[in-house]
Amino acid sequence: MSTIETQLKVYLEKRKENQTFRTLYTNSNLIDFSSNDYLGLANSAWVKQEIHFDLEANFRYARSGATGSRLLSGNSELYEELEKQLADFHHAESALLFNSGYNANLGLIATVARKNDLILFDELAHASILQALKISEATNQKFTHNDLIHLQELLETNQNKYNQIFIITESLFSMDGDFAPLKDLALLSDKFNANLIIDEAHATGIYGKNGAGKCIELGIEKLCFARVYTFGKAIGAHGAVVVGSELLKNYLINFSKPFIYSTALSLYDLLHIKHSYLFIQQFNFASNNLHNNIKYFKENISVHQNIPKIIGEGPIFAYIIEHSEICRAKAKQLQSKGLDIKPIVYPTVAKGKERLRIIIHSFNTKEQIDRLIHSIL
Ligand SMILES: Cc1ncc(COP(=O)(O)O)c(C=O)c1O
Repeated sequence: MSTIETQLKVYLEKRKENQTFRTLYTNSNLIDFSSNDYLGLANSAWVKQEIHFDLEANFRYARSGATGSRLLSGNSELYEELEKQLADFHHAESALLFNSGYNANLGLIATVARKNDLILFDELAHASILQALKISEATNQKFTHNDLIHLQELLETNQNKYNQIFIITESLFSMDGDFAPLKDLALLSDKFNANLIIDEAHATGIYGKNGAGKCIELGIEKLCFARVYTFGKAIGAHGAVVVGSELLKNYLINFSKPFIYSTALSLYDLLHIKHSYLFIQQFNFASNNLHNNIKYFKENISVHQNIPKIIGEGPIFAYIIEHSEICRAKAKQLQSKGLDIKPIVYPTVAKGKERLRIIIHSFNTKEQIDRLIHSIL
């Protein structure tokens, strides 16, 4: 074995010893309480059919592959139309598509926050935000999860020490499933002249008017410097968009490496995004079903005396188990009962915060939710 292979093996063995080794598996036929496909749009017959009609009607869509980055050969009228629609829908001057939410966070945060700037971020921020902090030349400091007092202290201490201060958080947290106190955060950010960036990944498509997001629901969109909406969750597709000013868009086109140096999205990706967005603007039954199911799950789990430690305010719930082996065993037990529920263990979450991540969807039936509740109790 070469020395590099030996080195890699040491790291992998360590993971196995710590019981943190990750493996891939293919999807099962179990009842979906695991995917981020909140509205079922990843498998919507309507969306698939609309994409098909669109392809048949539009011969101008010559290529299925992008053939290059946006700045070289990968741009198209469809891209530009879609960005215009996304900007309008999310109440912004401008929108710039990225190939994924991960890339959008990297490409936005690492590029706008420069040397002599400070980034204040929620301690539970997504891995893509944490990775952006590593790449950015700006200083960074975390604030306690959703703790406005801590954030205010950090703003007071640092307000005259940096060129710019950025505050970064998520509207709906991907692991704890709780909401950020966005309104107060926006007011605080405004008071200290900071630049607020909100990752709306898990709120996209399911909160705000027709799913336009939590910032719009709360009327704070104008107080944000930038917002990120991703398409891999409720939109059921792939990719993401950064919305903000036209100036921000031009800045990102000029400086954001994940945007500049990566092949653009394929035709199918763009059409999927376009028609999923048309779906959420035309139909509200999926969203209504989702919110009814969330309510049903919350109400019916809370009536039990021996209710486990379950947190979550939207479609994401975390059943905290605090020990990776017990957590894995519990997930296996639920899977054997036909429920697709995944254990989330260290290092994805902090030690002692191991949990089963339970996702409620629009398409889950009441019987399936009853089965879930009876199986986890
Ligand atoms: C809060 C948050 N931001 C960004 C991302 C990355 O989005 P994508 O899956 O489109 O790369 C995720 C994905 O899990 C997420 O949960």
